[in-house]
Amino acid sequence: MWKDKDVLLRVEDLSRVFYRENGRELWACKNISFSLQKGETLAIVGESGSGKSTLMKLIMRMLPVTSGAIYFKNRDWLALSGGELRKARQGMQMVFQHPIAACDPRMNVSHIICEPLRNYRQVGKLEGQQIARQLLEQVGLDESFLRRYPHEMSGGQCQRVAIARALVLEPDLLICDEATSALDMSVQDGIAKLLVRLQKERGVSYLFVCHDIALAQSISHRMLVMHDGQVVEVLPSKQWREASNPYTKKLIEASL
Ligand SMILES: Nc1ncnc2c1ncn2[C@@H]1O[C@H](COP(=O)(O)OP(=O)(O)OP(=O)(O)O)[C@@H](O)[C@H]1O
Ligand SMILES: [Mg+2]
Repeated sequence: MWKDKDVLLRVEDLSRVFYRENGRELWACKNISFSLQKGETLAIVGESGSGKSTLMKLIMRMLPVTSGAIYFKNRDWLALSGGELRKARQGMQMVFQHPIAACDPRMNVSHIICEPLRNYRQVGKLEGQQIARQLLEQVGLDESFLRRYPHEMSGGQCQRVAIARALVLEPDLLICDEATSALDMSVQDGIAKLLVRLQKERGVSYLFVCHDIALAQSISHRMLVMHDGQVVEVLPSKQWREASNPYTKKLIEASL
């Protein structure tokens, strides 16, 4: 079996087909292969409908794959099931696009942050508050947020809480699907900086799905460009201006 100590995630020939009402096939992902190193950020860019979210859902196992393989932490990720999968899932968490919708309106922040942990073990009230307080600090919010409810926070604050919640299980991989797209530019920038800092502190890897090529290149090490369900190219983010692929060039020009 494939093994490499520095690789966290490897996707091989991954495909997913959907069937339209008229019976025609739509390959939302087709023969996708790439790897992600430990502590690396790989941005996934491409126009709307290119298959970015489908790819993330396949990796998260929120959607069954049609064919292909995924290895996570050197394990055959698609072969895991039951208790083994449940345990391994702690290593891979996701932050979604709409922060407020992702938070249960009936729960306060302390509860929201610790909920994933409670799915795995018992957490007393005091311990929960302690953990939530530490994570709030890491995402740049003070402890007065512990007792707030989602409707009492801004979109940017809510997204910080969603990131704290995604970190509570100490994942190796954080998947952000348009996690900053619904936010103002300045808030977006703050969240992007936060993600970079958390990576330095925790060594977490990111798959960062983003429409905005300029933002994607500014926080990632490499960019994977998707078009019509396929990988057009993977390029080092620093060299984005020198992209030679015509589709990548078009995408970059459109974003300038
Ligand atoms: N559950 C589904 N059933 C049928 N088709 C789907 C389903 N999910 C996605 N698709 C189709 O697969 C293609 C890729 O969709 P996907 O959501 O992955 O794109 P995306 O790159 O994330 O787009 P966006 O940037 O708009 O979020 C689209 O044509 C979409 O209509
Ligand atoms: Mg999407």
